[in-house]
Amino acid sequence: MSEAPRADVAARPFREAVVDLGAIRDNVAHLARLVTPAQAMAVVKADAYGHGAVPVARAALRGGASWLGVADLAEAVALRAAGIDAPVLAWLHDPDAAFAAAVEHDVDLGVSSLAQLEDIARAAAPVGRPAMVHLKIDTGLSRNGVAPEQWGDVVAAAAELERAGRIGVRGIFSHLANTSEQADAAQLASFERALAVASAAGLAPEVRHIASTAGALRRPESRYDLVRLGIGIYGIPPFGDGTTAAELGLRPAMTLRGRVAAVRRVDAGTGVSYGHAWRAQRPTTLALVPLGYADGIPRQASDRAEVLLGGARRRVAGRIAMDQFLVDVGDDAVAVGDEVVLFGDPATGAPSADDWGDAADTIGYEIVTRIGPRVPRTYVGGP
Ligand SMILES: Cc1ncc(COP(=O)(O)O)c(C=O)c1O
Repeated sequence: MSEAPRADVAARPFREAVVDLGAIRDNVAHLARLVTPAQAMAVVKADAYGHGAVPVARAALRGGASWLGVADLAEAVALRAAGIDAPVLAWLHDPDAAFAAAVEHDVDLGVSSLAQLEDIARAAAPVGRPAMVHLKIDTGLSRNGVAPEQWGDVVAAAAELERAGRIGVRGIFSHLANTSEQADAAQLASFERALAVASAAGLAPEVRHIASTAGALRRPESRYDLVRLGIGIYGIPPFGDGTTAAELGLRPAMTLRGRVAAVRRVDAGTGVSYGHAWRAQRPTTLALVPLGYADGIPRQASDRAEVLLGGARRRVAGRIAMDQFLVDVGDDAVAVGDEVVLFGDPATGAPSADDWGDAADTIGYEIVTRIGPRVPRTYVGGP
């Protein structure tokens, strides 16, 4: 027979990602003010970069976002199922996507090819309402989006379908590669040419958009009518150049923490964790942290990343395993049950998600997005 969880354990989880919805709201408000008169879209794809799509979407709308953005149609429909009725755009589609659901749920669709445009128009017909689309031009990311050589055909077909009442072209958009000032300028010039071709074909979209967080912050000319804000609303800088969240007026929303599961004193020379890739140089104390690569903690950060424990930064000692890793606390006193913060707001002394990104040769985006389902999300700062 299983025992009921002890109340104190339930109150202080073994591992958790605490998401500050007040930080999300404030980050959106700050960025929305910065980009005004352009509108702000909160990008909540991939479960809001691991933070939880529905609570984050609500907090972002409270902060002044007027649009929500997701990759897949299923993510958009999940927002609708939660009762969120703000404008939503979904832009990355399964070739067999049930586009009728988008029309039924009032979800706008990004369009990246003529075939997709035709599929969407066909799916909308039985619903009896036009599908709302945003035509996507590839201006140089070479990823999704209509290739410039096909743009003329796509806008001509879209204009005809719009006149027939089968679709509405609400937007035209693209995505910057954030490569260099020069490369971004070339993409913006290409976007301008695409807009001119669309206008000549008779299209007059309500929103033109190309900027994500980086463009919104550093390239005012890229803001157009709408900016798609992802990483910035989570309080993580987009630049990877050492600029901090605080310098951008942002606050990290996610704190990943756990409680020390075991404490062990070891002698000099003791091998630690798989492969004994780390050995104690002196007698020292090790604290066991109950998070591992199953929870999205990158094994690559073994021996490099730091955590906040007992008021100080401590380094990971040895390999990060599936469920756990050790940190070296020297001769300091730590106890089973002490709080250990892997990352959070550096203003509290904790490492940032970007610090973990640096330790794992990746970016803060990947660190927060990969936090696994075994880690409960706990919300603070909500209404
Ligand atoms: C098409 C599109 N727009 C906007 C964003 C948001 O970008 P960021 O998180 O850098 O603000 C993304 C995220 O990758 C995206 O794919």
